[in-house]
Amino acid sequence: MKLRTLLLALACVCVALVQAASPLSLIPLPASVQQGSGQFTFPAKVQLCVPSYTGDSVKAVVKRWAGNFTKSTGIKVSVGKKANAAIQLRLNSGLAPEAYDLQVTRERIVIEAARPAGFFYALQTLNQLLPSRAVMAGVKATDVQAWTLPVVTIKDHPRFEWRGFMLDEGRHFYGKEEIKKLLDVMAAYKLNRFHWHLTEDQGWRIEIKKYPLLTEVGAWRNSKVLGWGEVKPDGQRYGGYYTQKDAREIVRYAQERFIEIVPEVDIPGHSQAAVAAYPEFLSCDPQNQHEVWLWQGVSPDVINVSHPQAVQFAKDVIDELTAIFPFRYIHLGGDECPTNKWEANEACRQQLASIGSKNFRDLQINFYRQLQDHIAQKPASEQRQLIFWNEVLHGNTRPLGTDITIMAWVGADGAAKDAAQRGMKTILSPQIPYYINRRQSNLPTEPRSQGHGTETVEAVYNYVPMAGIPADLQQQYMGVQANFWTEWVEEASVVQYLMFPRLAAVAEAGWTPQQLRKYPDFLERLQAEAKYYELRGVDYGKHVFR
Ligand code: ACM
Repeated sequence: MKLRTLLLALACVCVALVQAASPLSLIPLPASVQQGSGQFTFPAKVQLCVPSYTGDSVKAVVKRWAGNFTKSTGIKVSVGKKANAAIQLRLNSGLAPEAYDLQVTRERIVIEAARPAGFFYALQTLNQLLPSRAVMAGVKATDVQAWTLPVVTIKDHPRFEWRGFMLDEGRHFYGKEEIKKLLDVMAAYKLNRFHWHLTEDQGWRIEIKKYPLLTEVGAWRNSKVLGWGEVKPDGQRYGGYYTQKDAREIVRYAQERFIEIVPEVDIPGHSQAAVAAYPEFLSCDPQNQHEVWLWQGVSPDVINVSHPQAVQFAKDVIDELTAIFPFRYIHLGGDECPTNKWEANEACRQQLASIGSKNFRDLQINFYRQLQDHIAQKPASEQRQLIFWNEVLHGNTRPLGTDITIMAWVGADGAAKDAAQRGMKTILSPQIPYYINRRQSNLPTEPRSQGHGTETVEAVYNYVPMAGIPADLQQQYMGVQANFWTEWVEEASVVQYLMFPRLAAVAEAGWTPQQLRKYPDFLERLQAEAKYYELRGVDYGKHVFR
């Protein structure tokens, strides 16, 4: 008996030592974490105090969290105004909009924030501190004896205001439920911008009521796989699109998770699907056949920017996007736009002469200027900021004004610095290593995709945003974004496999102070996420998990 007691005591000491040694599995790592000793244990019914002065939107955040928590744990949460409640929310207007303080003692949990987003992020952190990933995943827990939280004091705020992820649904259409899953995981990692790449040469994915053929024709092509090299189009009728009702449902879902959606219509390049729908005014050669593209790469079949109806089309699309997406930004693409068709078109040549230029790239800029003027005339509630890929910085003689945001992808560090020096805002989404559709290893388990396996979890993690940028330019840098291009990826599960866990690495670059970011420590904290992915039903790259 005595030996048993001794062994038990020894085992307890060992467990305590292991617990003290292992970091809390928090991703992204908060700005400051001070672990104490002991734990808070949830009673079967817990009181949560939300003072009325915190406002209805904080109450809505809390109620959604409480419903989810009860569903997973079976613990009832009664939301009220009891000053001695075990969970206390307090307004602290001294904190930044997304910042929060979370203090867990043996007796209570105190959360302070200035804005609903801060309370929301505090609750995401709280979920990660629980003994099971079931609450994060929104499923019933089956593996927990006691619901506890470690005693800890966390003071947290993001490094960057823009923490984004882009999904290309132009090449492949995945549908609402996949987007909701993605938004859930983004929110768990405190990512706050979903850049929705909705149009491509290979498919137009958003209903525009004034131009029904965009989706009746432009959302469908005669092959699921996209041809490239040895891979040939398969002849299968394939596609899909979001109705405006679907898109509004996604908007609400994102808003509940403090994610802004940035819709992108990539014009005038990457637009063959639109050209196929309305060749009579969008194409440079309407006498020829135009179909939704079946191939990878960059199609030369761009929008005829000199056609007045093409300009009107773009304005009308912006108007409908503005009505669907009540957020600050619209992305108009601007990357990889060949000028060959303009060069061969008499009306384009005349327009170029009329603006006094000999550089066909200036036609693209001239097109955007007309769209900028259109937006500028709208009422304040319909104003939108425009984002472009970094190609619009170069190759033209009529640069756009500084009131645009540059998303830097090719030669990203240099392009972002150039944009910042010109007084523009910029976002870092470097192709290498933040295009997380590229192979993440050379293991035989890796699905087909682009790249050479060098965009590993570690390489993605170790990218240092804004390295060497002088302090006076840093304010132009809004943040970071991972991008997922889908030319090679037909199935949503493969998108997930390639995306996770690398999206977690990018999320940490967006949130955590650079001096705290260490890959071995991240890898340690990452281990708990395998369970989260499994419970949430998303696939992931398994090779970095033990
Ligand atoms: C891009 O990768 N073409 C923005």
